[in-house]
Amino acid sequence: MNVLLIGSGGREHALARAIANSPLLTKLFVAPGNPGTAESGENVVIDVANHRAVLDFCRLMKVGFVVVGPEGPLVAGLADDLRAGGVKVFGHGKAAAQLEGSKAFTKMICDEAHIPTAAYGRFRDAASAKTYVGQHGAPIVVKYDGLAAGKGVVVATTVAEAESAIDDMFAGQFGDAEVVIEEFMEGEEVSFFALVHGEQVLPLAAAQDHKRVGDGDTGPNTGGMGAYSPAPVFTDALQADVMERIIRPTARVMAAKGMPCSGVLFAGLMITRDGPRLIEYNARFGDPECQVLMLRLRDDLLTLLLACADGQLDKVSVRFRPEPALTVVMAARGYPGEPMKGTDIRGLEKASAMEGVTVFHAGTTMNAGKLLANGGRVLNVSATGATVAEARARAYEAVDAIDWPEGFCRRDIAWRAMEAS
Ligand code: AMP
Ligand code: GLY
Repeated sequence: MNVLLIGSGGREHALARAIANSPLLTKLFVAPGNPGTAESGENVVIDVANHRAVLDFCRLMKVGFVVVGPEGPLVAGLADDLRAGGVKVFGHGKAAAQLEGSKAFTKMICDEAHIPTAAYGRFRDAASAKTYVGQHGAPIVVKYDGLAAGKGVVVATTVAEAESAIDDMFAGQFGDAEVVIEEFMEGEEVSFFALVHGEQVLPLAAAQDHKRVGDGDTGPNTGGMGAYSPAPVFTDALQADVMERIIRPTARVMAAKGMPCSGVLFAGLMITRDGPRLIEYNARFGDPECQVLMLRLRDDLLTLLLACADGQLDKVSVRFRPEPALTVVMAARGYPGEPMKGTDIRGLEKASAMEGVTVFHAGTTMNAGKLLANGGRVLNVSATGATVAEARARAYEAVDAIDWPEGFCRRDIAWRAMEAS
């Protein structure tokens, strides 16, 4: 079967590598892809915002299955339009993608499905939002309702900070705003992934991400500076609990509302003293969490994604290797602000040849045979090992073998797992 994968990040490089290993695959196309995905398939230029153009490409190239990596195309309804055109898709329709696209929508689903989550209020003007903050006090969390690339959330430690975040959000920084204000939840964060089709669910695995740019979880939030899996805090019992109290009820309510899920649900969880609570949903795999999940996956990814699209999740099972996988994000200087672009990266071959090491491309480009940085998060230097410590030592050895003076990374990825072991 010919497959088209949409996206261009490290997540898509990891997915491309796994799909390329499938006995079911004839040919893999990636739109637009990156220099990493070019090693697993053929990168193609398609205007993904033009759903007709994607459909035409599928017909021309006899693509039988489209896998959508990022949330943007899902929220824009690409999966619906492809399905309407007779093409099989891994990825939620527009209605279900609201679970990522709108925090207010997710809160409504949580209410209906009685899912444990933070108490909240929704506001369309600054004055009533501030009144709510005044009533509840700090710490408190202020969220812009809509896609804001991870930058629409302010965890305010003081009332003044919350008020200034409210002012920013209503001042047009993100356009016409609705703001969700939430109770601050304390605990350890986990990214958990499950495949969902209608009411069918298949748990995958959990990972932990590092959102802050600096060592010791300091500095501004990013898309994620590193991840590892498994997450020691996420026991089998906790997973079963999350499936029963969070994932299944979500699948059920979404299906009952005529907005069935079909794709991966990424539950951002807070493991609190009172048990797991939902922070947010994403309608896609996490980046860089996907990279470590794919390194641990033992079964054929394409078979699993097809089973999800076909509503056959009850007919498949999935196994992950118990050995830990870890990834270190190398970012370009300036990130998460304006990153420096066009700088030379050398030494990837040497790093990739190291034992247990895989380097995923996230924001790179090839120019006249030279590999250049072309984004904020540029490389995901990943490794597996018998222990987290071994995986971590291998990943950092590989980082040190990469010659890219304009790049930087956190040096403490997986510190929680190291303390737990
Ligand atoms: P989100 O975009 O909703 O995932 O929020 C980004 C980050 O803000 C999360 O990964 C958490 O670290 C933090 N966060 C969001 N909501 C809460 C909350 N209710 N309590 C504590 N931390 C939160
Ligand atoms: N790494 C977090 C995310 O993909 O949203």
